[in-house]
Amino acid sequence: MPQLSNRTATFTDSVIRRMTRISNKYGAVNLSQGFPDFEPPREILDRLAEVTREDFHQYSITWGAQNFREALAEKQSRLMGRPIDPNGEIVVTCGSTEAMMAAMMSVTNPGDKVVVFSPFYENYGADTILSGAEPIYVPLNPPEFSFDADVLEAAFKQHPKALILCNPSNPCGKVFTREELLIIADLAKKYDTFVITDEVYEHIIYAPYKHTYFASLPDMWERTISCSSLSKTYSITGWRLGYVIAPPHIIDTVKKVHDFLTVGAAAPLQEAAVTGLRFGDDYYKWLQDKYTEKRDLFLRGLDDIGIQHTVPQGAYYILLDISEFGYASDLDFCEKLAEYVGVGAVPGSSFFKEPENRYIRFHYAKKNETLENALDRLSDIRRKMPKP
Ligand SMILES: Cc1ncc(COP(=O)(O)O)c(C=O)c1O
Repeated sequence: MPQLSNRTATFTDSVIRRMTRISNKYGAVNLSQGFPDFEPPREILDRLAEVTREDFHQYSITWGAQNFREALAEKQSRLMGRPIDPNGEIVVTCGSTEAMMAAMMSVTNPGDKVVVFSPFYENYGADTILSGAEPIYVPLNPPEFSFDADVLEAAFKQHPKALILCNPSNPCGKVFTREELLIIADLAKKYDTFVITDEVYEHIIYAPYKHTYFASLPDMWERTISCSSLSKTYSITGWRLGYVIAPPHIIDTVKKVHDFLTVGAAAPLQEAAVTGLRFGDDYYKWLQDKYTEKRDLFLRGLDDIGIQHTVPQGAYYILLDISEFGYASDLDFCEKLAEYVGVGAVPGSSFFKEPENRYIRFHYAKKNETLENALDRLSDIRRKMPKP
């Protein structure tokens, strides 16, 4: 038999999605893969029902339906503080997952280096491998998950083609401060580097933290490829709607990559999602309040149990410190947790480049009763977990 590609030789399947399968196997409350168990906004679903009977069943324009791009441009122009051209500065993709991949393929050549902060969302490792690039990892140091500017500059001195910025960050819940972003911006300019952002949690931020769009910083528009999606903002992870926003000299190439990768995102879903893109600011305030309540409920429960954890500034993930249980493998811990305690988590090691084994990750994008059920199961975790 011929060999399969070298590119995929180091690939493992996604640990996050594997933990969902394990949770299902044991009937565990699945707090591993980050998707909501509550309904998307009713108005979007009602529009979807109408759209199925309208004329949206063939390919849309490959870089996104006109109506969708116009609604998105209007929303993002407001938020990013500059006019975004719906015709020349947006590509609609199949989720931020494709947006990131298309961005990486558009800016890197095989062998190029890409700076990735660690811990990182696991897709970035795969994105760099698939595009032939080489990651340079820069640690975000717990408990604040701040970076050392000298270490970051040392990475830039290796002349990376791009830096990947996940803000707000999965898994550590960090929201980069404006000062931190300005340090990155200065280095990107000094070393002439692209910045690819992943801002899927742009609307899930807890007071007093605020989201700063990297592309909105002085001189950064020209070199920033902003990726995001509707998955988390409108609780529609299964619709696979994302986008890239960038200046025309970049977006023209992203359009071509995207066209050959997927042709386009689902036309009826784009049309139905326009309803969400046209929501007013009250929707985003409501979303923020809803997630603040969930975060506080879950953190209070964990505090009652007495487990050390991070306090997210944005996104909806918590890292729990499991050192007290003495497991040599956090993967083993998560498998036992699903089996004996009945709660699904992701081993922290899948997010860190460093040999880190003391964290597991939960998400709380769940109905309050689901979170209460999980907390109830976790309440006697010390008794239920087998000795390592
Ligand atoms: C940081 C981050 N980026 C991207 C994604 C995937 O987004 P999408 O559903 O838009 O592909 C996730 C999903 O969990 C995520 O946490």
